[in-house]
Parts: sequence; C-alpha cells; structure tokens
Amino acid sequence: MTAQHPAAPTAHAHSDKDRVVIFDTTLRDGEQSPGATMTHEEKLEVAELLDQMGVDVIEAGFPIASEGDFFAVNEIAKRTKNAVVCGLSRAAFKDIDRCAEAIKPAARKRIHTFLSTSPVHMKHKLQKEPHEVYEMVIAQVTRARNYTDDVEWSSEDGTRTEIDFLCRCVEAAIKAGATTINIPDTVGYTTPEEYYNLFKTVRERVPNSDRAVFSVHCHDDLGLAVANSLAGVRGGARQIECTINGIGERAGNTALEEVVMAMKVRNEVLPWWTNIDATMLTRASKLVSAVTSFPVQYNKAIVGRNAFAHESGIHQDGMLKNAQTYEIMTPESVGVKQTSLVMGKHSGRHAFIRKLEDLGYKLAGNQLEDAFVRFKALADRKKHVYDEDIEALVDEEIATAQDRIRLVSLSVIAGTHGPQRATMKLNIEGRTAIEECEGNGPVDAVFNCIKALVPNEANLELYQVHAVTEGTDAQAEVSVRLSENDKTVTAKGADPDTLVASAKAYLGALNKLMIKRQRTKPEAMTATP
Ligand code: KIV
Ligand code: ZN
Repeated sequence: MTAQHPAAPTAHAHSDKDRVVIFDTTLRDGEQSPGATMTHEEKLEVAELLDQMGVDVIEAGFPIASEGDFFAVNEIAKRTKNAVVCGLSRAAFKDIDRCAEAIKPAARKRIHTFLSTSPVHMKHKLQKEPHEVYEMVIAQVTRARNYTDDVEWSSEDGTRTEIDFLCRCVEAAIKAGATTINIPDTVGYTTPEEYYNLFKTVRERVPNSDRAVFSVHCHDDLGLAVANSLAGVRGGARQIECTINGIGERAGNTALEEVVMAMKVRNEVLPWWTNIDATMLTRASKLVSAVTSFPVQYNKAIVGRNAFAHESGIHQDGMLKNAQTYEIMTPESVGVKQTSLVMGKHSGRHAFIRKLEDLGYKLAGNQLEDAFVRFKALADRKKHVYDEDIEALVDEEIATAQDRIRLVSLSVIAGTHGPQRATMKLNIEGRTAIEECEGNGPVDAVFNCIKALVPNEANLELYQVHAVTEGTDAQAEVSVRLSENDKTVTAKGADPDTLVASAKAYLGALNKLMIKRQRTKPEAMTATP
C-alpha cells in the first residue's frame, strides 16, 4: 500500500455510479440509545452541523414517539438547507400520517417506513403470518407515497429473514413506490461476506431492483458494523446509514467518520465517494459527545483523543523524520487542530468570538454573553486557558441552555475530620432553594443536597471524573449517568472545582430526566395499518 495524502487528488475522476449517499441517523437511532437524550435545541444544532458537513439525508427522529420528537423533526424540516429530511414510521397509518405532517415543511423530504420480516420477529413481535406482513408492506409504502415521492422501506431484521420472502417483500415495496430499500442488520449478527452476498443476491433476483437505491444499516454488536457496511456497498448498496461516533441501540451503529474516511483513505480498494466534508468530522464528534454526554473512547478510530497521538519513542522518531511512517491520514484532514494556548484573563470579547469561530461554534445573544462571562471567570481562576477548556465551557453552555434546575452556589467542608458537609443553593424553575447536608465524603454530601432539594428515585449508575487538560489547575469534567424505571440519561459538568463539576453533572442529568419523563413511550413496535 502507498499511503496517499487524503487531500491529494484521487487517481480517477468520481463517477456517479460510485457515489454513496450518507444517511445520518444520529438523531433517531443514535438518540434511541440508553442515556443519549438530546434537548430540542441540541437536536437543531446537530442537524445544522450535519447539513453543513454534507450529509445527504438526515433522519431527524420518530415523530409518533412523542410531541418532542414531532416538533424536533418539524423544526429541522423547516431549517435544513441542503439535506433531505427524513422521519421514521412503523407500518401503522397513524405513524405514517404523523411522520408526513412533521416533515411537511422540508424542501426535500423522505418517509422511512419499516416492518419486520424475519421469522422470529413476525412470530413473536408482530404475531403475524408472512402473507399478512407482505400485504402490510404494500399498504405502508402506498400510504407513504401519498405524501412524498421519496419513500424508504426497511425490512427490519433483514439479515435474519428468509431470502425468498425478503426478495418478495422488496419487489412488492418497489412496485408500491419505494425508492430506497434498506436491509438492516438490526441485531448486529451478519458478517462482511454474508452481507455482501445478501445485497448481490437480492439485487440479482428482484426483477425491479434497478428502480431503487439499496441501503445498508448495521449495528455493531460484533464490532463489524463498518466492515459490514462497506461489504454491502461492494454488493451494490449505494446508501450507508450511520451515526456520528457510532452511537445507537446497544453497541451502536456504523460510525459515520469511520466509513467516510475508510473510503477516502483507501479509495483504491474501496472505490466509492461521498459528499462529506471530512474536515468537519472532529467538530461533529465533539458536538455529539457534548450534547449526549457520551464520552468518545480514547482510542476510537478517526475522532478518539489518541487517534493521532504517537507515544512510543520509535514512533515519535519516525514521525519527526516523515509523518507518513506512522500516519495514514493527517489530523488536519479530519479537522483536528493543534492544541494552542489560547487566552488568559486579558483576552477580550473580540478574541473570544474569533476563537469560538475557529473552533466551529456559532453563539449569539444571551448564549454568547453567558459564555463570555464564564470564560472570564475561568480565566480568572486558571492561568492558561486552552482550546479544550473553551470547548468544555461552551458545550456546557449549550447543553444547559434549557435547564429548569440550575446551580447557584455550592460550598463544601471536606478533609480528614468528617463528617463532610455541603451547602447548596439551587434555582428551581425561578425559585431559590437552599439545603445543607452531610455525606460519606464530599461528593456524597453534594449529591445528598441535590436529592433533598429535588427529591427523585433515580439511581446513580456512573460517576466518572477526568481532567480536560493537564496540570493541577485543569478543569475537571465529570460524567454522571442516572436511571429511573426504563429511562437512562447521561450528563457532563466541567469546572476547575471537581465538586462543582460533580454538582453540575448530576443536575444536568436530572434536567434531562425531566425531559425524558414527558416523553410517551411508543407502543411496542407492533402497530398495524
Ligand atoms: O436497526 C434497525 O432495524 C432499524 C430500523 C428501524 C431501520 O433501526
Ligand atoms: Zn437500527
């Protein structure tokens, strides 16, 4: 292999037949994963970035799931400039109608309607015979086509479906008007060779297959989602469904950044191309991590903190002589910027706004004001303010914009002579409340104050601290995961004081839980027309 600089021109001109449509489902399958709840504002921000980076189709949500999902899809439909805006629906007509209503304002709109076709799903989940499912496929696609010419049909659990039945359903869906056929590996069970053969076979056997674009949708239960997706493309699929950072149900979905860069860096063996501006991948990863509070694994391909770090002496030596010795793509090609010492307490508003722009943020009005005040406060306490500090600060500002409970002040007495004691003041929907509590350690005392002020039954499932940058004055970034009944949420808080960061993270999670409580759980996915 000869490593090629990703920015270098590819050996041959791009042809239309090799173009792969990127269908991003961060806001639907991604948001569906336990703990990854986003607020309305956060969803709009993610959608805007996806649109800017060249995503072709944004699956903005599942409109029947709740009022919140409906309004988010609807607002994204109004705002999106380039991408097709898509909503998900089951086979039930009320789902499809609601979805159509949500995406109505979009300049380019798609209804994605799905139905299970595998024996195990048909028998136990749908409790339907195959001939009934077959009729439902025709009915759901026909219904969706009343609203838009762009209809995607998915055979849920497609990789465990009998091939003859799958081919019949695909043919019927295309005949009824489906323009995209998605065959998902819903349970992350397939392998690259098998998935390749599946697409090849279906495309060869279905007589009208040339009238639809075929799509891959893979889950990562066996760590094969990216490899399977690329194998499906080799089998003739020309749409990849994926999410930023690979978030999604269980082990997640195909990671957008990984499939895109695989095709770009190894284009001689993966000869397909996408419209994605790869220099925005890092920014997108950071934004999604911030709004979902899902940390990105340090060694994650493309966007992990260590993805371009060279620790060993031998590697560092090689890198100094020639970067291609150990680097198959440049950090810049995926939007990694060199960490810089940015500003201190003398930096003014102009420099701050410039820095935000450099980091890819667009804040205005109160949000910008608040972020600047927080930056000044941080610069007063911390000698060196790095890019990562600014990112943590702004991400928190965005994530907490809609919070109903806010931390006003906190003081803690800790040390060798217990008991540890915390005094906390909160603003709860405009009302101020104060509490003082003891605890088995300072963090316990802080969390006891929150429980006393905002009584709740949530279980603390995860409490994690890491330093945003190096040095003893570094900001602490705390992640907290709470669960209540079947709902799980995660939130982050950052502050040079670890206890303040802990309180912010816990309150952030409670705020998200309040949003989640308002959501109605969609009935089990069994609805029929
Ligand atoms: O994994 C899956 O099967 C899905 C469908 C709804 C497309 O997410
Ligand atoms: Zn899925």
